[in-house]
Amino acid sequence: MSYRLVFSLLDRMDAECAHGLAIHALRLGLVPRDRRPDPEILRQTVFGLTFVNPIGLAAGFDKNAAVVTPMLDLGFGFVEAGTVTPLPQPGNPKPRLFRLTGDRAVINRMGFNNEGAAAMAARLQARASRGPAVRGILGINLGKNKDQADAAADYVAGVAALGALADYLVINVSSPNTPGLRALQERTRLQELIARVLAARDALARKPPLLLKIAPDLMAEECADIAAVALESGLDGLIVSNTTVARPPGLDPRHAGEAGGLSGKPLFEASTEVLRDMYRRTEGRLPIIGVGGVAGGADAYAKIRAGASLVQLYSALVFEGPGLVRRIKTELAALLMRDGFASVAAAVGVDHR
Ligand code: FNR
Repeated sequence: MSYRLVFSLLDRMDAECAHGLAIHALRLGLVPRDRRPDPEILRQTVFGLTFVNPIGLAAGFDKNAAVVTPMLDLGFGFVEAGTVTPLPQPGNPKPRLFRLTGDRAVINRMGFNNEGAAAMAARLQARASRGPAVRGILGINLGKNKDQADAAADYVAGVAALGALADYLVINVSSPNTPGLRALQERTRLQELIARVLAARDALARKPPLLLKIAPDLMAEECADIAAVALESGLDGLIVSNTTVARPPGLDPRHAGEAGGLSGKPLFEASTEVLRDMYRRTEGRLPIIGVGGVAGGADAYAKIRAGASLVQLYSALVFEGPGLVRRIKTELAALLMRDGFASVAAAVGVDHR
């Protein structure tokens, strides 16, 4: 069945039901695999990890690491599971997920609904025990429980529970749906948070790279502080960006007023500008994963030229279906070749030169 037909059914369904159905279908192996090898030009080594291609699934799609292998089998070079919190929590009341189909956008206020770190760890241990490492990289995105006052303690607990199972870890301080979370991006709080989480990471036998995921809604001064703290602290990389609380004009008025984070096409420009700014402020010394509004090879290429070493997406998958992953890879490889780049790495940040 073509995704166009499936989509016309899913589009009529409540957005969260459609997502649940997609997860079920993936778990049951009903979604076609794409195991064709990727073009050599897309191979990318970052944080000491080799990615078969630079296109990843962004956090929030697979909050419980239930479909890591099926998503890698769709052709993603990496999958970021989570956000996971130490304890299970239900998230916000429904409805909390809205599709703005005409705008190619999504608004969500899920609020870190997830089964908790122990459940994710058990699932990933079972996956690891099933056989040799599957192609592809697994990131784990860590958050805090809603009613935890000592935020750093929750990120530390996440590292302890899941660090050994992750190829990389993410401190998520940029979801708009957990009260007070984004205030952790403030300079002194961020310094303390990163120091404590890095200490927990360094206590592990194998030390996965630690990244920080930031919001697109930051003032220049906040960007300067984050860049400085990131460089001083020994953090391994940044993810730019999470969803926005801004509402650009022209959004579908039926949903534009919903509280939560906006993602998809209307986020592309703003998130790419923050990426460009962070690359400049960190002088290209910290690898950055670019995310926000990527729906084609040209979007991924623009993020790479602005300074992204890797790219992620989520919202476009909702509208385009699984064939999107192959299309982006093919388009990106063609654009790199057109402009004479021998690799993704050669194109990272070229807009700044
Ligand atoms: C998200 N995103 C997200 N990010 C994160 O760090 N932790 C999370 O739990 C979630 N949850 C989540 C749920 C839903 C429904 C959406 C649409 C998004 C944000 C996501 O990872 C990404 O940063 C943004 O969506 C921007 O990328 P796209 O969607 O424009 O490609």
